[in-house]
Amino acid sequence: MHMHKLEKIWLIVGVSCLVLFLTTIGVSAFYLGNKPPSCLTTVDPDKVDQQKPFDKPGLHKVEGKDWDYELVYVAQAFSYNPAQVKVPLGAKVKVIATTKDVIHGFEVAGTNINMMLEPGYVSEYTTTFNKAGEYLVVCNEYCGSGHHLMFSKIEVVKQ
Ligand code: CUA
Repeated sequence: MHMHKLEKIWLIVGVSCLVLFLTTIGVSAFYLGNKPPSCLTTVDPDKVDQQKPFDKPGLHKVEGKDWDYELVYVAQAFSYNPAQVKVPLGAKVKVIATTKDVIHGFEVAGTNINMMLEPGYVSEYTTTFNKAGEYLVVCNEYCGSGHHLMFSKIEVVKQ
């Protein structure tokens, strides 16, 4: 069989790329242990209520961290705990959330906060609430019959 020199080169390049590609996928899947890359912290989804910080949902003042408060949420079909929270205006807040059952969304309307909550994983987002007012937390992942009823409220108040 006669093959063009150029054709041969391209065949080698093609096969090499494929091998490199498969190796990369295999190696990275191995190293990450098949976790979604954005959620590296895990939690036992069956014992969410017993594990820190999810044993105490709500707003907590923290010391010695890059943020002033931690706002902990536990989601389940079809609600968030806490259902309502007051946050001081200008506070730097780390939102820490997980779900007890299926995948839920965590979108705070009018802000950049938009997370997916997956069972077994902890989703985090640090932000500063610079505008007073009421913010609606909504679920943007379809999670069942009560999906559209699933919401929570963040009230940013001047202190
Ligand atoms: Cu929870 Cu949709």
